[in-house]
Order: sequence, then C-alpha cells, then structure tokens
Amino acid sequence: MKIVLGITGASGAVLALKFLEHLPLDVTAYVVISKSAKIALKYEASKDYKNIKNKKNIIIFKENDIAAPIASGSFKVDKMIILPCSMNTLAKCACGISDNLITRSFTVMLKEKREIILAPRELPFSSIALENMLKLSNLGVVIAPPMLAYYSNQESLEQMEDFIIGKWFDLLKIENNLYKRWKNNE
Ligand SMILES: Cc1cc2nc3c(=O)[nH]c(=O)nc-3n(C[C@H](O)[C@H](O)[C@H](O)COP(=O)(O)O)c2cc1C
Repeated sequence: MKIVLGITGASGAVLALKFLEHLPLDVTAYVVISKSAKIALKYEASKDYKNIKNKKNIIIFKENDIAAPIASGSFKVDKMIILPCSMNTLAKCACGISDNLITRSFTVMLKEKREIILAPRELPFSSIALENMLKLSNLGVVIAPPMLAYYSNQESLEQMEDFIIGKWFDLLKIENNLYKRWKNNE
C-alpha cells in the first residue's frame, strides 16, 4: 500500500513521527512536513526522530515541491492522512486551496475519490472549523482527531499515543496490535 502523510503545524505533530516509527515496511509513505510543523516539533518533540528518514519505506518531500509525484492524480497512491491537521490546513482543504504540496496532494486525492483521513487538532474547535469538518465529511473525508479513550486500560502516555495511532492504522486498514481491543479475548 502507498500512502501520503501530511504533517502540519498543530500540537501533537510528534504523533506523526511515532506513526512513521510504527509503520510496517510493506506500506510506503510519501511524507510532507509543513514549515509550521517543523516549528511545532522543535517545541514539542523530546526525542530526535532523524532516524525516521533512514526507513526504506519513507520518502520525504519538501512542502514547496509542487512538482513531486504526489502532486499529480496520475501517480498511484491509495490513501492520504493529514496528521495532525492544523485549522489553517483544514480551512484550505475545505475551500480547495492548493498552495503547497500537502494541500495540492489533498485536492488530488479528493478529485480522484481516494480515501482521505484528517486528524484536526484544536481545543475547542471554532464554528468555522466545525463547518469545515462537516463540509469535508460530507465529501467523504474521514474526520478522526486525536481523541483520548480509556477502554483499553492504557497506563502511560505512550500507550495512549499507541492507541490513537492504532485507530488511525485501523482506518487506513494497516494491520496492528497497538492497543488492546474491546473484549477481544472474550
Ligand atoms: C507549538 C505550536 C503548536 C500549535 N498548535 C496548533 C494546534 O493545535 N492547532 C492549530 O490549528 N494550530 C496550531 N498552531 C498554529 C499553526 O502552526 C499555524 O496556524 C500555522 O499557520 C499552520 O500552518 P500549516 O497548516 O501550513 O502547517 C501551533 C503552533 C505552534 C508553534
């Protein structure tokens, strides 16, 4: 499977790096990190994730590389996830603005009617953000914010993060055992 991963400048951009750490080798990820995401990561990432660049199944493009393969519908990619999705990028996606490789790739996936997942991060959401999410949901985009849950008895922040990443993997149909499923062993 081939996926596009857009990482934008919302809190929790570090979750995208953990997502890549867990990504199985049979899934290729075309990754774009926005300038703001890099700033957010400087403030929030406690660990050095430079080793992610060395994973064979990860190909990184610059945000302004508008001629990259994933900017065209003729390049075959199965799915896209924007994780986390800032309110800025959410608004651009909802309005069809394609001013960088993340928003261009989103527009391409939308017109090609391929699967897209957005993980918007803000608290609280403004009415504008909620309207944008509803508009995109009605167009078939899956809105899946990083939401806490407690039913699989997570005992640490790492386990909580794995739970959220596991739920995104589930949506992308990537096999995983990142969290304990509800009543799985009963
Ligand atoms: C540390 C940090 C955390 C941020 N958290 C959020 C957030 O949770 N949600 C959000 O919409 N914007 C957040 N922002 C602001 C965005 O980065 C800003 O709106 C930026 O223009 C988004 O650009 P992008 O969509 O191209 O990544 C944050 C910025 C910083 C520096």
